[in-house]
Amino acid sequence: MTQEPKRYLITAALPYANGPIHIGHLAGVYVPADIYVRYLRAMGRDVAFVCGSDEHGVPVTIRAEQEGITVQEVVDKYHNLFKQSFADFGISFDIYSRTSNPIHHETAQDFFKNLYDKGLFEEKTEEQYYDEVKGRFLQDRYIRGTCPNCGNPDAQGDQCEKCGTALSPNELINPRSAYSNATPTLRPTKNWYLPLQDYAEWLREWIVEGHKDDWKTNVLGQCKSWIEDGLRPRAMTRDLDWGIDVPLEGLAGKKLYVWFEAPIGYISATKELTPDWEKYWKSADTKLVHFIGKDNIVFHCIIFPAMLKAYGDFILPENVPANEFMNLEGDKISTSRNWAVWLHEYLQDFPAKQDALRYALTANMPETKDNDFTWADFYTKYNSELVGILGNFINRVVVLTEKYFGGITPAVGKLQEIDQTLITTIAEAPEKIAQSLEQYRFREALAYYMDVARAGNKYMQDNAPWSLHKAGFEENKERIATILHISLQLVANLAVLGEPFLPFTAGKIRTMLGLPTTTWAQGGSMDLVKEGQTVQNTGLLFDKIEEASIEAQVGKLEATKKAREENATENKQEPAKEEKKTLVPLKPEIDYTDFEKIDIRVATVLTAEKVKGADKLLQLTLDTGIDTRTVVSGIALQYAPEDLVGKQVCLLANLAPRKLRGIMSQGMILTAETPEGTLRLIAPHEVVTNGSVVK
Ligand code: 2FM
Ligand code: ZN
Repeated sequence: MTQEPKRYLITAALPYANGPIHIGHLAGVYVPADIYVRYLRAMGRDVAFVCGSDEHGVPVTIRAEQEGITVQEVVDKYHNLFKQSFADFGISFDIYSRTSNPIHHETAQDFFKNLYDKGLFEEKTEEQYYDEVKGRFLQDRYIRGTCPNCGNPDAQGDQCEKCGTALSPNELINPRSAYSNATPTLRPTKNWYLPLQDYAEWLREWIVEGHKDDWKTNVLGQCKSWIEDGLRPRAMTRDLDWGIDVPLEGLAGKKLYVWFEAPIGYISATKELTPDWEKYWKSADTKLVHFIGKDNIVFHCIIFPAMLKAYGDFILPENVPANEFMNLEGDKISTSRNWAVWLHEYLQDFPAKQDALRYALTANMPETKDNDFTWADFYTKYNSELVGILGNFINRVVVLTEKYFGGITPAVGKLQEIDQTLITTIAEAPEKIAQSLEQYRFREALAYYMDVARAGNKYMQDNAPWSLHKAGFEENKERIATILHISLQLVANLAVLGEPFLPFTAGKIRTMLGLPTTTWAQGGSMDLVKEGQTVQNTGLLFDKIEEASIEAQVGKLEATKKAREENATENKQEPAKEEKKTLVPLKPEIDYTDFEKIDIRVATVLTAEKVKGADKLLQLTLDTGIDTRTVVSGIALQYAPEDLVGKQVCLLANLAPRKLRGIMSQGMILTAETPEGTLRLIAPHEVVTNGSVVK
């Protein structure tokens, strides 16, 4: 979009209603989105800022099981908590909706129907993993197993959290259900797929060619690699019992894929906001921007745009400025491991200090790489920057105005060079900050804002009106008045320019100066506070944070870590009591022809070595009697390489080769997996000729 857009539609990722909001959510998505929107509003632009709770998907159902309450209770609980937390932190949505609203169900179903009626889905019956114990199909991320890439025993069917490799469930070694731990079976099921490959060329042109200069490199990089790796059909319906019904007859137990319907939630929320919603979604002069975290890039840059394109009349995002992750004290934030700073708890511990957190998260925003939040850094930033620079400057100006002029704004007199320099700094600031904001460079924008406050502090220090006062108020009155007048204009500018970053502080400054509202256009002005206007000293903007309260936060995290470690030790000492009882249920019956397809041979291990960087994997060379081949096997915890050389094993010899950790594995060594999860090699009782058939 080269011309100035007429209006803006800004979306922030709909958070899953499966656990409270933490600082990672704020830093990654909601604070940057809110800064941007507040800036646009201050510019007088027409903006709709939409968000809501994502109440479907498997995460919420898992949470219900963990908490022992119904799924409805889970989503209600977290939806209300989210709404409160966002309001508390000044995240200024025009609407905060939820995907359980009927308007969303209708909108999502209509969308599906539109694509279905146009024949744009592929219908496919495929075998999917099924949990026989729980009686349900397993979505990719609820199949766990050993990562073929790094040996992480807890990889999810869609991705290994440890090494980041994208996986599909059939690549996992020893797959098991996240619900019951049982080994899943395969069952056929029919679903509707969006043939993403048909959109690949169009996506490549739109993103890789069209947005190569204005999208962030982390976003472009991910998009390119998805497109280059080859897009494949993706199922838009799933076998689930929680979610939005597929709007086709006779399909009980099938729901819309959560990543199909959740982004449509942006459309439903806009509909709920205004009957005039189409102007935001269907006019080319609207600029649509999605604020998301890096784990949502593919859904917002590939899948949702393909859906919008398939539907037809919707606009596409102009930008998707995804952030990387914010870690906490050197460790990945995790809801399930309770490693987070929860917003509602933060506010209990630091009442009315929302801006302190907004500040620390923006100053350290993970815009180009993962960053780390530490309490020590929070404390330093608060004391040396908010208290020491911004608060100190404003407090001095207000207190001196009160002391020397009874709280009445004095007149400006003759200007000196030092005044002109400051006036130029103020005049240039709005444009400089705006440029960074327009390019989603929030850290830089905040740093420029703080430079203005710093310039004010220096101006005060260099002019030292207190010394002039001491030397004789009457003879220096005009100069003191000028210094304070200019400083008060700077304070007002700090309210104008600070509104996107520190809205609570900006509000307090406005109250001090009697400025009910401000616009960005006022930034740079030296006439915001009029001569004779009363300035109220309403107290310190930032009061001290005690060291003890920081120590308490660090202590809280240490306790979490300790509990986790103790838990891990206990679990090691008493291996999975629960699991001992459950044997994997029998798989569905097969006939002899199915069995005949399997070719198991006896082979001898020629060499064995550990796979670098993967605790569980061994690389073996086998003499199969027919050939010599390499096989990667997940038995490294049970068998030392030197104990295997010369031993015979059974090999599933006609399994399609696949790459594990970059090594092409030609077959699979058979093991018996005990109910406790230990692997034992299967071998013939007596040595036999290599290549002997096992049946
Ligand atoms: O990652 C998440 O928390 C998802 N619930 C984000 C959804 S964004 C959108 F598409 F609705
Ligand atoms: Zn891995």
